[in-house]
Parts: sequence; C-alpha cells; structure tokens
Amino acid sequence: MQEPVFYLGPFQGITDMHYRRLFAAYFGGVVKMFTPFFTGIDTNHSKSLRKPELDPGLNDRSVTVPQLLSRNAGEMVRFAGQCYEMGFHEVNWNLGCPFPRVASKRRGSGLLPFPDEIDQILNDYFSKCDINLSIKCRLGLSSDAEFDELVPVFNRYPLSELIVHARTGIQMYKGTVNLKKMKASVQLIRHPLIYNGDIFDHESFENCTSELPEISVFMLGRGVLSDPFLATDLIGINTNCDRSEKLKTFLTELLHSRLSSGSHEATALGRMKELWSYLRWSFDDPVVVWRLIRKVKKTGEYHEAVRRIFDETWFVGQGYARSMEEKVF
Ligand SMILES: Cc1cc2nc3c(=O)[nH]c(=O)nc-3n(C[C@H](O)[C@H](O)[C@H](O)COP(=O)(O)O)c2cc1C
Repeated sequence: MQEPVFYLGPFQGITDMHYRRLFAAYFGGVVKMFTPFFTGIDTNHSKSLRKPELDPGLNDRSVTVPQLLSRNAGEMVRFAGQCYEMGFHEVNWNLGCPFPRVASKRRGSGLLPFPDEIDQILNDYFSKCDINLSIKCRLGLSSDAEFDELVPVFNRYPLSELIVHARTGIQMYKGTVNLKKMKASVQLIRHPLIYNGDIFDHESFENCTSELPEISVFMLGRGVLSDPFLATDLIGINTNCDRSEKLKTFLTELLHSRLSSGSHEATALGRMKELWSYLRWSFDDPVVVWRLIRKVKKTGEYHEAVRRIFDETWFVGQGYARSMEEKVF
C-alpha cells in the first residue's frame, strides 16, 4: 500500500480558523483542512467571506479548502471567484450535510436523489468557471443505489477530487459505514477518490485499508476531534512528547485565540464544550471528564475543570470508537 495521506474534515462550530491554525501548529499530519460550510453568498463582496474564517493572513491557503453549501451554480461561481481572489486554489461543494432543515431544501445530501439537477449545476459551474472544484458527498440520501446514478454525472466533469462519506444521509452519523458499496464503486470513479467515515483508531484504519487497497487518501473527522494525534500516529510519525501537556496547552491557546478575537465568552466556551464532547472518549474515564466540563459557564470555571480533568484522568488516545458502543450520556 502507498503511504497514506490524511485530510481534516470540516465540523460546523468546531473546526473554525482558530482550531485549524492551532491544530496545524501543534499536531499536523494532515495535508488539507476544509472549512465548515458557507452559505448565502449573495453578492460579489459577501461579508461572510471577509471574516477571519478565510482571512489570508490567518489561514494557510496552501492547505485550506473553503466549502460551500448551495444548489445554485451562480452562487458557486461567485464563491469560487471570491475565494480565488483571496488566494485559495480549490473550493469544495457540500453534498453530504444530512440535517433535515438542510436536506429538506434539496441542499447537502438532500440533492443526491436529483442527479439531473446536480448535472445541470456542474454544467453551469464549469461553463463559467475553471477554479478547482471538489465534492464531498454521501452514498445517497436514503439509499446507496443513488450513488450508481451519481457516479456517471460526477465523471462527466473535471472535478479535482471526490470525497465520499460512506453512509447515506438518513443514517446521519449512526450505523455502520458501507465499505462494500465503496469497494464496488472504486473502479467506476474517474476522479481522485478520498474515503471518509469512522476512522477512529489503528484497527478501523486497517480495516478500511484492507477493504479498499486502491485508496490512499483519507479524510479524518471525529477520530481527530477525539484524539488530535490520530493522523500522525496512523502515519507512524514519532511524536516524542508529553501528550497530555501538549493537548492541555493546545486547548488553552484555542480558548484564548477565540476570546481574544472577540468571541463572546458563552460562544467560545460552547465551542470548547462541543470539542470536549469528542475529546472525552480518549480519556480513561469519559464519564468523569464530561461531568467536570459540561456545566461550565465561566472562563475561570472552565480552566479549573480542565485542570481537574488532567489531574484526575488520563489521556489515552484513539477512544472515539467507544462512543459508538456505549450509551451516550
Ligand atoms: C457536528 C458536525 C458538524 C459537521 N459539519 C460539517 C460541515 O460543515 N461540512 C461537511 O462537509 N461535513 C461536516 N460534518 C461531517 C464530517 O466532516 C465528517 O464527514 C463526518 O463526521 C464523517 O467522518 P468521521 O466518521 O471520520 O467523523 C460535520 C459532522 C458533525 C458531527
């Protein structure tokens, strides 16, 4: 097998510019990082794109891929143009978001049952724009049979990459990934293919690579949120350091970065707690971690909770698979 290559998947509300910047500085192991999706790019000078999320001074443009949720080719061209002007080389189209309020409007995974509409949108995009476009999708909205109709459409256009989260939309993030369908589709897809879904530890990664030996690029998601050393560990890079200490410093800086950029205390702490909802699984006692962190309301309380977590529990790493087995509390 070729050396594996890893990407960091986007997480609305978690992997913002602050997270991505500090993740690259502290942990690394990924060659691309995707922004959580943008929407509503109504004008040629959209305010939403001028925020720090895409600020060229705060983002490494050689590794950051801005993502858009849309069903409108005009908006996609506008978004790609604005990103290109800011120095980004690729934009990503979200065809995977499963949330009903998105999918019911035929956006994200809600567009997957309509290959003709996707065809039309891609046709319009590529007739007006030559900025690299990749797609992140699922195998379908309600059935993986939808993928059979989608592949020929994707194949007709010069997409830079196709990233597939091997679930259907209605599965949300539950159930198992469908490696069998991926395996059956690999040879039919003419674009560079990136696998995404449930890579949480060495075991799940090995399972994936043995089922899909043709694939060498993988997007990591919840596994990295739970254990930020996952990518370097899977590559086999020796990170000779005190992991708990490093993680603690990263978390302190992350909160500081958010607060000092003007984020409200409640918002910044909410985002930290969201991250802890994944991190807790890589500690030896997720129940204690969650009990300490979940009710925190003030920055001082937060720092005290984190101090106690690192004093009273151990960071063991690669724990997210446990969340699938145990009752989530
Ligand atoms: C809270 C949450 C927010 C997410 N936000 C996005 C997003 O903005 N764009 C996107 O393409 N995927 C988003 N995802 C999906 C992840 O990027 C990833 O595809 C998914 O978690 C499957 O990978 P994993 O099993 O490795 O976690 C989100 C997932 C979750 C749970």
